[in-house]
Amino acid sequence: MDRPRDPVLADAARGRILFGGDYNPEQWPEETWHEDVRLMKEAGVNTVTLGVFSWARLEPRPGAREFGWLDTLMDLMHDNGVGVVLATPTASPPPWMGRLHPETLPRDADGHVEWWGGRQHFSHSSAVYRRYAAAITEDLAARYGSHPALTLWHINNEYCTFDHGDEAAAAFRRWLRDRYGTLDALNDAWGTAFWSQGYDCWDGVLPPRRAHYLNNPSQVLDFRRFTSDMLLECFTAERDIVARHTPHIPVTTNFMPLWTGQDGWRWAEEEDVVSVDLYPDARDPLAPRSAALVQDLTRSQARGPWMVMEQAAGGVNWRAVNQPKPRGLNRLWSLQAVARGADAVCYFQWRQSRQGAEKFHSAMLGHAGPRGRAFQEVKRLGADLARIGAEVAGTGIRADVAVLHDWHAWWAGDQDGRLSTEAGADYPAVLSAWHGALWESGVTCDFAHPEHDLSGYRMVVAPQLYLLTDAAVDNLLAYVRGGGTLVAGFLTGTADQDDRVRPGGMDVRLRELFGVRVLHEWWPLPAGEQVDCEGFTGILWSEEIEAADTVDEVLAYRGGELDGMPAVLRRDRAWYFSTLPEPEALRALLARIAAGAGVRPVLDGLPPGVEAVRRGGLLFLLNHGRAPVTVPLPGRHHDLLGGAAVTDAVTLDRYGAAVLRS
Ligand code: GLA
Repeated sequence: MDRPRDPVLADAARGRILFGGDYNPEQWPEETWHEDVRLMKEAGVNTVTLGVFSWARLEPRPGAREFGWLDTLMDLMHDNGVGVVLATPTASPPPWMGRLHPETLPRDADGHVEWWGGRQHFSHSSAVYRRYAAAITEDLAARYGSHPALTLWHINNEYCTFDHGDEAAAAFRRWLRDRYGTLDALNDAWGTAFWSQGYDCWDGVLPPRRAHYLNNPSQVLDFRRFTSDMLLECFTAERDIVARHTPHIPVTTNFMPLWTGQDGWRWAEEEDVVSVDLYPDARDPLAPRSAALVQDLTRSQARGPWMVMEQAAGGVNWRAVNQPKPRGLNRLWSLQAVARGADAVCYFQWRQSRQGAEKFHSAMLGHAGPRGRAFQEVKRLGADLARIGAEVAGTGIRADVAVLHDWHAWWAGDQDGRLSTEAGADYPAVLSAWHGALWESGVTCDFAHPEHDLSGYRMVVAPQLYLLTDAAVDNLLAYVRGGGTLVAGFLTGTADQDDRVRPGGMDVRLRELFGVRVLHEWWPLPAGEQVDCEGFTGILWSEEIEAADTVDEVLAYRGGELDGMPAVLRRDRAWYFSTLPEPEALRALLARIAAGAGVRPVLDGLPPGVEAVRRGGLLFLLNHGRAPVTVPLPGRHHDLLGGAAVTDAVTLDRYGAAVLRS
């Protein structure tokens, strides 16, 4: 089927950035709907997502259909020029489903049922759940497929359930048979000779349920792969139904940011447009950096423009302390997402709920109503997005650096029984340390899978690919052979695809590539402990490595047990870091390597706290600081946000931004 890759591009052709949010009108009387559209227009809202949690309203009894209210809303939106992202409601089955079909409810590793009364209480493997989900999806697509308000399908919501129950166990066994063919192959892949775990029949194979002591790590790894695949089956089943009715309407599902439960590369391939929910913490000084990571990853998954499907206009209600965003921050962070490739800025949710679990979660229209600060700031942002849309929407971003990320490496690496459970040594923390160092240097980067074609990048960074397939190793070697610069962090290339430690503790070809003769021991460091190295301080990790004679450069450990051994070593264009340099040192080292590879930051000499990104022909300058700042910028430029010319320097307010055409 010839289906559009990206609906945002379709809108981009009309020069629009999508702006709006989840709209849950079933929580409000009909007169409120009219006030809603009036205020939406006032705020420049051009899109809403309907129906995300509407299943019980649409199907109050098994097989019943109540579409009248949604008919009215679809018409109302269309009449007011607001497009609809229509969701399938399958993330929250009605209570009758769990009551009549308890097998649709998932179970955790202890066998406890996850009951209705919250949301996401469905088993991805339940045939009954899938049947009901398909039926409501079919009827929604048939009813609204030709409605002029429909712009995009939103399947389910933040797929994230794990299930250890019996139906999932049977599905897991089917999945494993497909993967391994024979029980012998499974026993081999899982290393079941260890601890007397050898399986004599398929029926004995289970999800990793609560065990007395550590679960088999390869079983855990496969269970994560299986869970991602089962949820993906749920997604594609619904996607195929809506696509049959509306081949011209693109389909998405919203990811959680850097979420462990889905192989995001694989999932993105199945979507027409990639969307993500983004909730950085306003109290976290590293929030802009963390957001940039998610934005770069989502853009890379999308291979182009993408959508912020949800963010908060103010505070959320699920952190320990939930403060609102200070004045200006909602706008700044929204523009940051656009700078990094978003063609849609949407929120959870349009109108703040008065009841239910999220009544204290902010919304575009908060409890304070249209006079509230949240709404006033949303209005300002709507006007800003309208100002820049024509020149921004649909444009791309060029990056010379790729950061490698693979969910399978994460799943295999972050397990019990590993060498360090220090939070900083967790996969996402290490990924973020490396990406953050590049972000601090103002170097724009993409993310890539280790088996992707990397030849277009001058430099590739592999923060911690603990698990690497043979194909990925081949790819990295070919990349360096082809002239690329590769920088790898500790624990890269430790295990194969089954989580079997490679002979010698690191793939032999990688040892050869980096100039590691022997990797004697891993020496993880406790939090707060540091290791002195030539020219910098290392944290979290160290390794007892013997370098080959042919290495070109070594930065050695200084003092301690590893004195004189290589902390960082390079052979030709391949670098290996056996420790994590503390942040400033990592930034400086990476900046040096990047410069050697011909990689330039977006702008030189940026004041601290200012982020610069080029998108299309425009330069975005974002001041993450709480004080105004002046950025020297030779020449004459036009600021699309301010509508004025600027010459030789741009002054940005606290949390201010400029979008410049030169
Ligand atoms: C997620 C969900 C929303 C809402 C928000 C709250 O992103 O998709 O329904 O619960 O979290 O932050």
